[in-house]
Amino acid sequence: MTELRVVDVTEEHLDSVWQVRIRSFGPGGDRDEWKKTALTFVADRRFLGVVDGDVLVAAARIWPFEQWWSGRRVPMGGVAGVVVAPEYRGRGVGSLLMRGVLQRCADKGYPLTGLYPATTVLYRHLGYEFAGSRYKFSFQAADLRTLGGSGTAVRKAGPADADRFLELASTAHETKRSSGPLIWPRSEIVSWLEDEDNFAYVADDGFVVYNWSDGDLVVDELIAGSEETARALWATVGSGASIAKTVHAYCAPFDPIHLLAEHEADGDARIVRWMLRLVDAPAALAARGFPEGAVLEAELRIDDPELPANTGDWHLSIADGSARLTPSEPSTDALRVGPRGLAALYAGTRLAALRGAGLVTGGDALDPALDTVFGGPTPYMLDYF
Ligand SMILES: CC(C)(COP(=O)(O)OP(=O)(O)OC[C@H]1O[C@@H](n2cnc3c(N)ncnc32)[C@H](O)[C@@H]1OP(=O)(O)O)[C@@H](O)C(=O)NCCC(=O)NCCS
Repeated sequence: MTELRVVDVTEEHLDSVWQVRIRSFGPGGDRDEWKKTALTFVADRRFLGVVDGDVLVAAARIWPFEQWWSGRRVPMGGVAGVVVAPEYRGRGVGSLLMRGVLQRCADKGYPLTGLYPATTVLYRHLGYEFAGSRYKFSFQAADLRTLGGSGTAVRKAGPADADRFLELASTAHETKRSSGPLIWPRSEIVSWLEDEDNFAYVADDGFVVYNWSDGDLVVDELIAGSEETARALWATVGSGASIAKTVHAYCAPFDPIHLLAEHEADGDARIVRWMLRLVDAPAALAARGFPEGAVLEAELRIDDPELPANTGDWHLSIADGSARLTPSEPSTDALRVGPRGLAALYAGTRLAALRGAGLVTGGDALDPALDTVFGGPTPYMLDYF
């Protein structure tokens, strides 16, 4: 084994990456489709690998997302496809790769990075922590069919509606002060709407995208600006009740559908957790929204061994729905936090839980105010990546 190095994945590496992927995730998937998408990551230097001499032995890619945090968009590097060749595992290659990924996120100016962990250990060592979940609920199709809304005009949508969908989702997430949902690159949204296996419908203030899966229907996203539109869009999906008995839906645990449907969602909701990390603490806090009227002046001590620019004594000032993190002097009253605690705090985890897990120490007097400013609707995501 020669010296292992982090490199940009090039087109020439892609066959090797595919081989490591099969060994990591199992066979399947369309190789040509994968390669087409992979090249967009290569072109934008969002695909990193580890080489042993000339041999590629690990890879990971970074999606250029934005993520809603309390109703504001924050750029977020979504890390996916982290793979290490089996014969290189267990000797720090994954960690070396992920350090490269963190640095690239910083270089690209993403204040946040997020991922769905297959194992938490690797990512926690590097400062990621759980921040939210992806929920999949199952409803009776017959319940949705009778929700009404027939007075609302609903039309079939296509790729030309991509901008309209983005606009409607933005309005909804700003109004609801959502935390967690992703904003995908526009090209991805166009390609979903081009896919004839996805069915999309749009109303004046909402839309739905759904598809078939194993004889059931699956709602990928439903945005509704009013009760009538919610009823009309869910009923459009439920109109498939003569064939599909169940409608699975990716939505928030507090989505109005839970209050509209006659029978509660199946007790076996599927929950997949995702993790978050602050790459640039001042930028991440400045970009996030905060409740109007909430105020906070607090001293923070951040220790971030992986991204030392975050390390230091800081003053956190929150007012008028925005935050500012500025360098400060050491204080005995400071809240002391590492990157994992900072990520969980950012995501609105209650201070009692953070202290109970040892992720925060000191600054006890700040707890009620911190819970108020960082609190809000539970972070959720609709999509896996
Ligand atoms: C997960 C994977 C990327 C880890 O790569 P790796 O090179 O073995 O990771 P490292 O050697 O840098 O390990 C870093 C830490 O994670 C831990 N770790 C690695 N794999 C683990 C696993 N499967 N379960 C629990 N801990 C694990 C290591 O023990 C180490 O912790 P330690 O320092 O406390 O001992 C690799 O096993 C892999 O490619 N797996 C298949 C695909 C996959 O699951 N990818 C992750 C997608 S999110």
